[in-house]
Amino acid sequence: MTILSSVSARSFDSAAMPTVTMIGGGQLARMTHQAAIALGQRLRVLAERPDDPAAQVTPEVVLGHHDDLAALRKAAVGSYALTFDHEHVPTEHLEALIAEGVNVQPPPHALIFAQDKLRMRHKLAELGVPIPAYTEVTSVADAAAFADANGWPFVLKAVRGGYDGRGVWMPADLAEATAIVEDQLAHGVSLMAEAKVELKRELSAMVARSPFGQAAAWPVVETVQRNGQCAVVIAPAQDLAQAKATEAEALALRLASELGVTGAMAVELFETHSGELLVNELAMRPHNSGHWGMDGACTGQFEQHLRAVLDYPLGSTKPLAPVTVMANILGAAEVPEMSMDERLHHLSARIPDAKVHLYGKGERPDRKIGHINILGDDPAETREKAERAAHWMSHAVWTDGWDHHHD
Ligand SMILES: Nc1ncnc2c1ncn2[C@@H]1O[C@H](COP(=O)(O)OP(=O)(O)OP(=O)(O)O)[C@@H](O)[C@H]1O
Ligand SMILES: [Mg+2]
Repeated sequence: MTILSSVSARSFDSAAMPTVTMIGGGQLARMTHQAAIALGQRLRVLAERPDDPAAQVTPEVVLGHHDDLAALRKAAVGSYALTFDHEHVPTEHLEALIAEGVNVQPPPHALIFAQDKLRMRHKLAELGVPIPAYTEVTSVADAAAFADANGWPFVLKAVRGGYDGRGVWMPADLAEATAIVEDQLAHGVSLMAEAKVELKRELSAMVARSPFGQAAAWPVVETVQRNGQCAVVIAPAQDLAQAKATEAEALALRLASELGVTGAMAVELFETHSGELLVNELAMRPHNSGHWGMDGACTGQFEQHLRAVLDYPLGSTKPLAPVTVMANILGAAEVPEMSMDERLHHLSARIPDAKVHLYGKGERPDRKIGHINILGDDPAETREKAERAAHWMSHAVWTDGWDHHHD
């Protein structure tokens, strides 16, 4: 009889691998969980509902609200780092957690500049970073005076809580501006005004930074918005002079360092017709403009975010193809009769190189329910393919008229 015990087989000790807590159970947490699995780690999420995208897939779910300190405490117990899939956790709660020994990454003194667009603008102005003209709005008169000085239409923004274009308005005249300002102020929403930038296009410079201070940048990408919401990302941004790309990357790295950001950060940029780059806003978490990297970069943003908040060395951000295009799958105005599974089946048959990411979300108009990544050599062809695939998944209609029944 062989005595096996003389060879000490070491079983995988999952308790020796770190658990990270992510506040928020949306698709960003779901995809971070996917990266955690590959690293042998676990992601615990604080989700509002058991059917939230991340709560569906991780066994470690704490149900609760991000405004509730007790729920945050419960989610933080025993985890190596606490991080976020959105920017809405009150900073006083984070200060309380830090005082109790929780490792919060990014720290609240950095996160505040992603939470509060007015504080972000003040800070960027102080750092000498190019931004649109802006002002705080506490009355209709403030808004009118700003627009008269900077031109109509102008941009009104909720200082906090906006996403996917919600909380952004572009009133064309005084009547429109008055209606929005009065309504929002009456609902307790703090407002600011910005000059409407004449955009050539929008770009995003994404970086990640660890508490140790190591930082890495992905190539600058172009983001295409529809109805104020990101629809397509082209990585890297095409026809961007090398000097401009380097300038944008350097700016994002500098901001991450000066603000003390840890984890992933997206710097949303406006490129003007004269080639100037202005900062729109900062997101301190994985971001839609980084989804391409899940398939198109050596290290994607979800893995990098985990590495960064855990203070590991960062991964290579090298692209794996000349171009990667990401297209969001948005809920259609009317849910197609064909099931999502059948749509996926047909997509798999027709575009076998489409990398599909579905979030487990119900289909509602314009809701981000998934995305497609396509790697390629030719930017226009790759974009057409990615958009055709995403449109198919949303609508069960091929934009080029192809019909699988007659071919
Ligand atoms: N000052 C501006 N000038 C021109 N367009 C603007 C301006 N501010 C915002 N926009 C447009 O509105 C979109 C949404 O604005 P912003 O990024 O501030 O809002 P959000 O809802 O917080 O964003 P997100 O979609 O990133 O969650 C921008 O991507 C851009 O297309
Ligand atoms: Mg934005």
